[in-house]
Amino acid sequence: MSSDRDLGLGVVGAGYWGKNLVRNFARTTGARLLSVCDLSEANRNRAASLVPGVKVTGRFEDLLEDPAIGAIAVCTHAAAHHALARDALLAGKHVYVEKPLTLEVAHAEELVRLAKEHGLTLMVGHLMLFHPGIRWIRERLVAGDLGTPHYLYLQRLNLGIVRSDESAWWSLAPHDISIALYLLGSRPRDISARGNAYLRDRIEDVVFANLQFEGGQAAEIHTSWLDPHKIRKLTLVCDTKMVTFDDTEPREKIRVYDKGAERSVDYQTYAELISLRQGDIWIPSLPGTEPLLLECQHFVDCVRDGREPDTSGQQGLDVVRILCAGQASMAAAGTPIPVG
Ligand SMILES: NC(=O)c1ccc[n+]([C@@H]2O[C@H](COP(=O)([O-])OP(=O)(O)OC[C@H]3O[C@@H](n4cnc5c(N)ncnc54)[C@H](O)[C@@H]3O)[C@@H](O)[C@H]2O)c1
Repeated sequence: MSSDRDLGLGVVGAGYWGKNLVRNFARTTGARLLSVCDLSEANRNRAASLVPGVKVTGRFEDLLEDPAIGAIAVCTHAAAHHALARDALLAGKHVYVEKPLTLEVAHAEELVRLAKEHGLTLMVGHLMLFHPGIRWIRERLVAGDLGTPHYLYLQRLNLGIVRSDESAWWSLAPHDISIALYLLGSRPRDISARGNAYLRDRIEDVVFANLQFEGGQAAEIHTSWLDPHKIRKLTLVCDTKMVTFDDTEPREKIRVYDKGAERSVDYQTYAELISLRQGDIWIPSLPGTEPLLLECQHFVDCVRDGREPDTSGQQGLDVVRILCAGQASMAAAGTPIPVG
């Protein structure tokens, strides 16, 4: 049931992913999806059939000029994010932007600055940070149940979707970079990355990247849309426990391994020994809530309560910095590039 005090929402870009945002924003509490804008008539018609009564338009200005719309979600191809988000902020609207926030650091900085100057919410769609499994790992880390993180590696592989406007790095790695920053809770020092483009000129289909953190931790990220396996997996090695998260598993996504290696001294010889611990494996149960609905509801709640989102514009900027440094490293044959 909606009320006059609900936040009025508009979505721009209702394509492959945007239709999911349309569906989920229409299910949020405390908001009403009023308008969907898309250049494609077919995508406008699909949005209209998903949400009966929603207005559809091909003109973005219709959203900007509508006083009933308090917030706009941007879900076009990444190259259009900056201009649309900037215009929305300048029109006084709160803004949600799909990942990656922008394609350039200066553009992301501008959005963060504009949101701050105008007292508006800016949130980026780092979806995995709303995944109950990733949240569970983070909570166990904060509670100290897993020990201190040493390193993690993340794999996001599949055959497709092959995009022409962004590489596998820009399309897939924002998820993994945001997870690594969230779980390690440390600042990255530098990144080295190697990428290869096989299908189209200069659009990498596969990228191997290595992030080194100030706290001594490391994150290895492998992204590809040219791979026979569908893999969405992370492995986190801490000093007392090890954890895997497999998002392709329907239920048992997380496994906690009570395994580790410890240094001790053999007092007979005073030699240093490494003893290995092979303990139990634990599979926690997780709530089955759709992460995208949690993400959309979080945006609505943050706007209504004037709260900083868990995936703020600043975090979007941090990820764009790493994406750009990774791209620079690929151009320099894998040379480590400092992350600003
Ligand atoms: N969070 C996730 O898991 C996830 C998954 C896929 C895509 N994405 C992100 O979502 C965004 C969109 O990706 P997609 O796969 O839906 O792309 P898409 O090409 O399928 O859809 C983009 C839509 O935007 C519309 N559009 C473009 N410019 C416009 C403009 N100026 N005004 C109005 N409409 C405009 C196009 O007509 C198209 O319908 C990208 O940033 C992508 O990285 C996120």
